[in-house]
Amino acid sequence: MDKEIWQALEKHQTGIAALRIEKLFEDDPERFEKYSLEAAGLMLDYSKNFITEETLELLNHLAESCDLASRIEDLLTGKKVNNTEDRPALHTALRGDGDGLDAATRKIVNETFSRMGNFVSQLHNGDWLGASGNPITDVVNIGIGGSDLGPVMASTALTPYDQKKVGVHFVSNIDPEQLSEQLEVLDPYTTLFIVSSKSFSTIETRMNAESAREWCKANGIKQEDIGKHFVAVSTNIKAATGFGIAEENIFPMWDWVGGRYSLWSAIGLPIAIKVGMDNFNAMRRGGHLMDQHFRSAPFRENMPVLLGLLSVWYTNFFKTETQIIIPYDYNLNKFPSYLQQLEMESNGKSVTRDGKPVACMTKGAIFGEAGSNTQHSFHQLLHQGTHCFPIDFIVPVNSHHPIGAQHDYLFANCLSQTRALMKGRSLEDIQKEMRGQGKSEEDITRLAPHRVVPGNKPTNTLTMEKVTPETLGALIALYEHKVYTESVIWDINAFDQWGVELGKVLSEDVYAAMTHETPGDIDGSTAGLVEYYKKHQK
Ligand code: F6P
Repeated sequence: MDKEIWQALEKHQTGIAALRIEKLFEDDPERFEKYSLEAAGLMLDYSKNFITEETLELLNHLAESCDLASRIEDLLTGKKVNNTEDRPALHTALRGDGDGLDAATRKIVNETFSRMGNFVSQLHNGDWLGASGNPITDVVNIGIGGSDLGPVMASTALTPYDQKKVGVHFVSNIDPEQLSEQLEVLDPYTTLFIVSSKSFSTIETRMNAESAREWCKANGIKQEDIGKHFVAVSTNIKAATGFGIAEENIFPMWDWVGGRYSLWSAIGLPIAIKVGMDNFNAMRRGGHLMDQHFRSAPFRENMPVLLGLLSVWYTNFFKTETQIIIPYDYNLNKFPSYLQQLEMESNGKSVTRDGKPVACMTKGAIFGEAGSNTQHSFHQLLHQGTHCFPIDFIVPVNSHHPIGAQHDYLFANCLSQTRALMKGRSLEDIQKEMRGQGKSEEDITRLAPHRVVPGNKPTNTLTMEKVTPETLGALIALYEHKVYTESVIWDINAFDQWGVELGKVLSEDVYAAMTHETPGDIDGSTAGLVEYYKKHQK
């Protein structure tokens, strides 16, 4: 990272933060044309931001000074970008033509996709039979983190493409409430579990899978028939066979695919089961289109690069700590949770790639939910709160289920929020309106300040004709590459997650304290809570 460019950006920020975004539109009627672009079926309007030509030029220099172009090549051609685990991050090879993979691996990847296709057909055609000889009616994906969030998000987003052949359900939480809720309504003889775990050692997944197996047995399914009700997706074939899953029912995964980037692999089986293999492949094609754009477009016309640089702009120069994501598409309601893992697990880091403390802030928090519900929950804070949040709005032009003018209103709501966030409402305007309504001067003085909306809040709007498998694939790849762009600027490794490992290790200590007479070596607060648990446990 070039210090001079960084300082120039700091200086530039103090000037631009004093401007009104709305004024930038008045000064330049071409602003929308200049600061919007299309790629891979998506359209990004980033004109409602604190940016000018100078901002983009400086951010462009910043990207160049970090060698972003060659780092993109490193990612896409299989260099070991995950340096702390000494491996590449080649999720892109799963949606393209295998770029970055050797011929043998490419062959295995293709075989895996055709196995997935056969498996999906067997389920859809009623050819996969359970212990009683009846076809499978429901599939439960047992997995957590990347082995859950991506598949849940994409299969929810593609609900209009549901083939309605087999019910698809998800269990992730170690809380037995979630598993019980599913099992209560399922028939063990027509249910198939997919144990999705890259490592096959994650405690939540292991325990849920064991409980599901016990449930099958308790309902009379014999040990020798258990294999008809369980398949797995994992890199750890030994542990999966040890669990009792036949090797031919294990779909391979590879260490060069990170958990939160794995929905493109066989971890995406629940998506393919819900919407069919053709639609799954269409999603892969959409992702690949975004990869090609990321690889070839100049930075100024590169959608993921622009999103990444804008995020850096706000995080490091406006010191914003939270980014908000609001899809105005009900089926995309899981997209914010999926992005939380993608963005925060990838870039919530505080040392550089070579282990030194970072010189700047890295990823802050991500939160969001589907609009228009959000307007009636947290938008008050966006409009009148004291914090500034950059927000991404996502809204398709067409609904899969147009009913009356509802979708038009949804779209209008979305745009009007971005407009209101930019324009706000001045004290003078409000006073004028109140006078027009015949309010007393006393009331105006008392009430008008409460109605002021400062505005000048930055937003991006992403739109597309419709949320289809292709555009969804492009959208996911867009955010993956935005995350990578940020990581290059911040000089951090986006592909490891050592912080999560600590929680896993420490939970064993606490469990041991809960199940032993003496609490062991734990702190006073945790020991007190453990004692409370023991005392009140029924
Ligand atoms: O939450 C940490 C994590 O390691 C994620 O990165 C991963 O997606 C998740 O656990 C699940 O891991 P696995 O697929 O190995 O069960």
